[in-house]
Amino acid sequence: VTYKIGLLGLGTVGTGVASILLDPAGRNHLLKEIEIKQVGVRSLTKTRTVTLAEHYYTDDLVAIVNDPDIDVVVEVMGGIEPAKSLVLKAIANGKHIVTANKALLARHGDEIFTAAKATGVYVMLEASVCGGIPIVQALKQSLGANRISGLTGIINGTTNYILTRMHAAGESFESILADAQKLGYAEADPSADVDGFDAADKIAILASLAFGDRIKLGDIYREGISGITNTDIAAATELGFVIKLLAIARRAQTDTQNSSLDIRVHPTLVPKHHPLASINGVTNAIRVEGDPIGEVVFSGPGAGSGATASAVVADILSVVASLKAGQQINQLMGCNHQHYASVQPIKHTVNQFYVRFITRNQPGVIGDLGTCFGKHGVSLESVLQKPVLLKTSQDVANEELAEVVIVTQKVAEGNFYAAIAEINNLPSLHKIPTVIRIL
Ligand code: NAP
Ligand code: HSE
Repeated sequence: VTYKIGLLGLGTVGTGVASILLDPAGRNHLLKEIEIKQVGVRSLTKTRTVTLAEHYYTDDLVAIVNDPDIDVVVEVMGGIEPAKSLVLKAIANGKHIVTANKALLARHGDEIFTAAKATGVYVMLEASVCGGIPIVQALKQSLGANRISGLTGIINGTTNYILTRMHAAGESFESILADAQKLGYAEADPSADVDGFDAADKIAILASLAFGDRIKLGDIYREGISGITNTDIAAATELGFVIKLLAIARRAQTDTQNSSLDIRVHPTLVPKHHPLASINGVTNAIRVEGDPIGEVVFSGPGAGSGATASAVVADILSVVASLKAGQQINQLMGCNHQHYASVQPIKHTVNQFYVRFITRNQPGVIGDLGTCFGKHGVSLESVLQKPVLLKTSQDVANEELAEVVIVTQKVAEGNFYAAIAEINNLPSLHKIPTVIRIL
């Protein structure tokens, strides 16, 4: 008996999956019992880097999900539609699903998992989060005995690749992003990476697994990295930090009932000796805190063909092993969440901040800033004043400007932004290009 795979998509991830399935020697022996039946693509004329006879290819993806011979549908095409309809149709036809599509799961996971439960099929999602790192399996099974209190991670490879190169060489954002696209790390629309949507999708999935409730994507605070400039990178370095796009999900600190979560994605200043500061390039890392484990950190390649295919094929193996054993649905491999978590608004959280101001280069500016912060109970940890940085500027012709970087102590977001609102009205302020939270 062989188990037949219908592959929806043969791009970066699909090509990696096909390469493993076509070359099982030296890998798990079960792979010899798994074969690709059909591959669904958009273009039948594109040159492919895997060798598959012509008859494998089709642009009729509906036929794949309706094919009674196919046991497992592997969705690595991306996007919401037609991926969603195809996955739901495959489930209705009793097929197991393996997907790398975090955007789909984070938006429509409730409908997909409800349908899968009703039909008694698996929806496996290891590849949807952190590429090759087995974090989904860890949260579902290996760490299942723990009461999880927090997840903190670098969970988008593209943005970590961009920030790492900006730190190393001060290269321009655009040229590094183009390289990330060439390497197959970026989403079809790279703003999903750069603006933090992809990391928000992933932390929604991880938080749901860690805390046992569904997460509404709209409840997650999200900021991307497009506002980070080489000036911020240089200032952060001078202050002893590295800028990373972090995804955080934890029990809300102010909530004694432990009933709401603090979930966010934003650029963060990470102290340079913190373990996450040295996670570079496309590597992802995620720290899980729980009782009784304490703390465990996973790291590995977070995007790319081989890394992601490693996770996809592991899920195929799990499904096939379960089918071979004739098991009912193994509850540890499924998702059975019913309720939505309450997520604390960011304005109720307490954070330390880095703020970069461009001010008029005149006496008393730092005093004005300090007075505004003081009025709102914001204590300052450090103040870095640069000599005049911008001698000419399009909007302030021939006027000298100065740059002031302030690091606050921990402060309620409400107080911090009340101070910022007042600072925005100071005549000595030119603009506030960047505000970044500190880990
Ligand atoms: P990709 O390189 O753009 O490949 C997409 C594949 O799907 C292509 O083969 C394309 O066909 C096919 N396809 C897309 N829309 C189609 C449609 N409407 N009809 C028929 N075929 C269609 O994408 P990818 O990078 O492999 O990503 C695939 C999924 O994996 C996405 O959900 C992504 O978020 C996720 N993921 C990616 C990575 C990564 O590192 N790239 C890592 C983890 C998860 P053609 O080849 O004919 O154009
Ligand atoms: N675009 C994603 C990233 C792919 O860069 O992390 C992996 O999910």
